[in-house]
Amino acid sequence: MFDALKPQITTLLNNTTQTAEQRMQAICELLKANIPHYDWVGFYFKNGDKRELKLGSYAGAPTDHTIIPFGKGICGQVAESNQNFVVPDVQAQDNYIACSITVKSEIVIPLFKNGENIGQIDIDSNTPDPFTAEDECFLEWVNEGVSQIL
Ligand code: SME
Repeated sequence: MFDALKPQITTLLNNTTQTAEQRMQAICELLKANIPHYDWVGFYFKNGDKRELKLGSYAGAPTDHTIIPFGKGICGQVAESNQNFVVPDVQAQDNYIACSITVKSEIVIPLFKNGENIGQIDIDSNTPDPFTAEDECFLEWVNEGVSQIL
């Protein structure tokens, strides 16, 4: 499933008639539409010099959490740890920001530009414990591609 999507993602990334924002939006929509356990897909980026994340492109239900301070929630923790964070069961997390009561699990993968953690891709799933090492590898690959258009 992931390998079949890679050529389409490469095509979207290479579409220089669109802005980086438009290409990230298209990637969010592609992932949400094609991967059954991806119910919300979005990018957060460091907000200027502030120690907070700002929501960028996303596909799925609108969220109130357009700004997330570093350290808060799964996303804010990844902004500080620079590590992938896979959450099989969001209810088992103390430091978690709920976006929807339907969400059961989450994966957040940091996005690096020139070795610096500048943002992340965040996936919410309504399926319990769906994420594997394959999701991590695939999303790291997506982020490397996105990094090159920023
Ligand atoms: N659940 C995230 C907040 C962002 S929403 O999932 C879109 C968190 O705990 O950081």
